[in-house]
Amino acid sequence: MNKRITFVSAFDDRNMEKIESCTKKIKEKLCKVPFGKNVDNRIEMDTLPYHFTLSAWDIEDEKNVKKALSQMEFPKLKISINNIEIMKGKENSYVLYFNIKENEKLKLFQKKLYQILPSERYNPENYHFHITIHIDKDYKKILSIKEKILQDFKPFELEVTSFGLYEIYPAKLIKQFNIINDNDYEEISPTAIVTSYPRVFTDIPYEKEIYNWLEKHCNEEVTLNKMLAPEIEARYKLINKLLNKSNIKQVLELASGYSSRGLIYSQKGYNYIELDLEKVVKNKREILNGIESDIPKNLNIISGNALRKDDFKKLESYLKPKEEIAVINEGLLRYLTFDEKKIVAQNIYNLLSKYGGIWITCDVTPKKFIDSQDKALPNFNNNLSLITSRNNLNDRFEDINHIKNFFGNIGFELIEIHKFKEMRDELYSVNKLNIFDEKIEKTLEDAIVVVMKVKN
Ligand SMILES: C[S@@+](CC[C@H](N)C(=O)[O-])C[C@H]1O[C@@H](n2cnc3c(N)ncnc32)[C@H](O)[C@@H]1O
Repeated sequence: MNKRITFVSAFDDRNMEKIESCTKKIKEKLCKVPFGKNVDNRIEMDTLPYHFTLSAWDIEDEKNVKKALSQMEFPKLKISINNIEIMKGKENSYVLYFNIKENEKLKLFQKKLYQILPSERYNPENYHFHITIHIDKDYKKILSIKEKILQDFKPFELEVTSFGLYEIYPAKLIKQFNIINDNDYEEISPTAIVTSYPRVFTDIPYEKEIYNWLEKHCNEEVTLNKMLAPEIEARYKLINKLLNKSNIKQVLELASGYSSRGLIYSQKGYNYIELDLEKVVKNKREILNGIESDIPKNLNIISGNALRKDDFKKLESYLKPKEEIAVINEGLLRYLTFDEKKIVAQNIYNLLSKYGGIWITCDVTPKKFIDSQDKALPNFNNNLSLITSRNNLNDRFEDINHIKNFFGNIGFELIEIHKFKEMRDELYSVNKLNIFDEKIEKTLEDAIVVVMKVKN
């Protein structure tokens, strides 16, 4: 068997339907597998869905290819199918295919791929993108299929939302690579209102003004819970305490939402960069302009996705090159799968490896904490799951060892672990407003902030 690995587009159901609506009236059995000395039963081997190929390599290179692809960023692509054509195939066969209109973005991506993982047959200089419909040695049959499809063919567009690395033949998926799409994360954004509201019951500056703006301008349906104030206040203040202790004066806060921290620390002279999704950033800029006439120049609020390498590159232009960074995030990783958490952690790892510094986060939520949160705020997690489908118990860390191993495998060393309880005496919501009970006390006992740095 001629074992190779191939990297191809993977269409979702909606896009696949568009292709199949063209081919469904063909009654003959179609086959996309090329003729070749080592392919015995082509029909049986034809298990790869409709696709276009970007490259293929020897199966011996699988490990290298997988590693290189895992470090690549995949563009969101729209391609146009403008015709149905025939070209010559292997062993005097003919290939009937959907022609893909010249596409700069696709070409550029293939060039990048070719530079990293060259494979001569897929040299972008002389490669033509197509989606194979059928391969046959019978030219008349190919021609008749072509004519049938052309009868009511209209050019159409397809969206590529992911790619697949397959072993062939028969095709076996080795790994799927998804395009990082902001839409997939936007459903998390309303949770930033859920965490902004409880800060109204704290003594943290600007929080009341921020929430007032949100109340007036945002019409997302979210359930608010005052009883969350001690937890949210504790994590905010604990992160501040650890940031102050570090003496690092350059901060990157990921998924900063509507938090006031960036404004406050930039006023103290910190070089502060906030990153969040576009809509939140737009709101945030408007909010800050409304409540503070003089926004420090050293506060930069950038729209981007914490999973996207290119967005990390973009934010580097706001960093002072010779200064360490404290990366902060509160309330992002809990909404991500472990694969997604890993991508964010790798981006932070790359940044800290270059600049030095630490990563302070409360986003390591062990299962035990969710348990006590459920007891203290009985409907909170159910309500949160109504806002985002991404509030899953399966995406939580088991315990501290799980946290250490997970980040350890990426290259981090966990240097400090702090309980929210440490901040008990400094909680305005508890000490002045008496928003508290035994169950809330237990959440402060179980929730933690960790400090990590890149292993030496
Ligand atoms: C629970 S809120 C936390 C906001 C803020 N840190 C706080 O404590 O109030 C989650 C935030 O994550 C942001 N977010 C979600 N996915 C993101 C992504 N992939 N990249 C950057 N930000 C993201 C949302 O827009 C939202 O502002």
